[in-house]
Order: sequence, then C-alpha cells, then structure tokens
Amino acid sequence: LFAGPCDFLLGVTSIAALPDPGLPEVAFAGRSNVGKSSLLNALTNRKALARTSNTPGRTRELNFFDLGGELRLVDLPGYGYAKASRTDVEGWTGLTLDYLKGRVGLRRVCVLVDSRHGLKPVDAGTMDTLDEAAVPYQIVLTKIDKVKPTAAEGVRKAVAGAIVKRPAAHPDVLLTSSQTGEGMEELRTTLAALTER
Ligand code: GTP
Ligand code: MG
Repeated sequence: LFAGPCDFLLGVTSIAALPDPGLPEVAFAGRSNVGKSSLLNALTNRKALARTSNTPGRTRELNFFDLGGELRLVDLPGYGYAKASRTDVEGWTGLTLDYLKGRVGLRRVCVLVDSRHGLKPVDAGTMDTLDEAAVPYQIVLTKIDKVKPTAAEGVRKAVAGAIVKRPAAHPDVLLTSSQTGEGMEELRTTLAALTER
C-alpha cells in the first residue's frame, strides 16, 4: 500500500470544505514542529509530499492525501506555538478539533509526541477529546534519532503508563524517526491493516 501512489487530494480550511467521507482516514496530530508532515513523507517515501519546516506552524490546513485509492492520510496543523496571529491559530485549532471529534471514517489518529519532551498537558487535552469522542488513537514518539536508546525506552514506558486507563488509546507506543526510517515499517503495517474490513 505504502509503496504505491500517494497523491495530494486537497487542503481544507473550513468544515464545509471537507471531502466527502468515503475511504478510511488516518490523521496525524500533535504539537507544532513535532514532525507530522515529515512522518507522512517518510511513511510514503516522499521527500516533499507534505511541506515541512523548522518554523513551528508550517501546516495551516487540513491536508488530505490519497494512498492508492484505499486510505486517506490527513496531515493536521499543529497545536501549541505557531508564528501566526491568535485568531488564525484559534481558527485552525477549532477546525482540527471539529474534524477529530466528528469525522465519519476516521479510523485512527496518530498522536505524535517528541521523544525528547514526552507528553505535555496539551497532548492530554487532545487525548481527552479523542477518548470522549471514542476515536481510536495511538501515540507515536518522533525524532528518536535525537535521543539515546535508553532515554527513548524510558519515555516509551512513561507514555505507555500514562495511557493505560485511556479508553480509546492503543496500548502500543511506537518509536519512530523520519530521518533514519526507524519504526516506519511497523507503522505502515499497523496502518495498512486499517484498510481491511
Ligand atoms: P507543523 O506543521 O508546524 O505543526 O509541524 P510538523 O509537526 O508538521 O513538523 P515538520 O514535519 O514540519 O518537522 C519540523 C522539524 O522537525 C523539521 O525541521 C524536520 O526536519 C524536523 N524533523 C521531523 N522529523 C524528524 C526526525 O525524525 N528526526 C529529526 N532529527 N528531525 C525531524
Ligand atoms: Mg506540518
């Protein structure tokens, strides 16, 4: 599935503009700069399918990608810090939350967390929303190339412990690096399984 075509479908800035639900969707959520767009590129072996940047707040729309006509990947704007006006940020955040709470066909949300930082209160807020809406999600630790293996394992355990009682959380916490490709095959396998009925 991930070796085949992946095409940009559209970018959305309002709920009214969302594409008709049809294919199952997987969304990538997380704090600004955590590596959502980079992960999407690494998963699909593209260099610049989704635009990435050193500056937090790069992704400002809900960007939909069609993976082989079987699955849609959705790159979300980050929450937290962004170099933009407060009104703009509130606009994207509201849109992102509305999408996450009410989307038919949303099979899984990958909640990305930086391996160097672990879970932040704002991540807990996102997980609260997903738990309440009963949307299945999974924590994906990013940038593990930036931490020592023992530290990465420590963060993984801490996160796994913190989500035990969360009803919509998948118990597995993946360690990934978009830079080295670590964890990509495992994540591809997990996501490909969501296309099966
Ligand atoms: P927003 O769209 O602003 O919310 O950010 P994002 O979550 O999409 O992050 P993006 O993919 O744009 O990456 C942010 C920065 O982190 C870029 O400079 C990336 O090159 C870097 N980055 C992303 N993933 C990795 C990784 O696995 N390892 C390392 N070392 N850097 C990474
Ligand atoms: Mg982005």
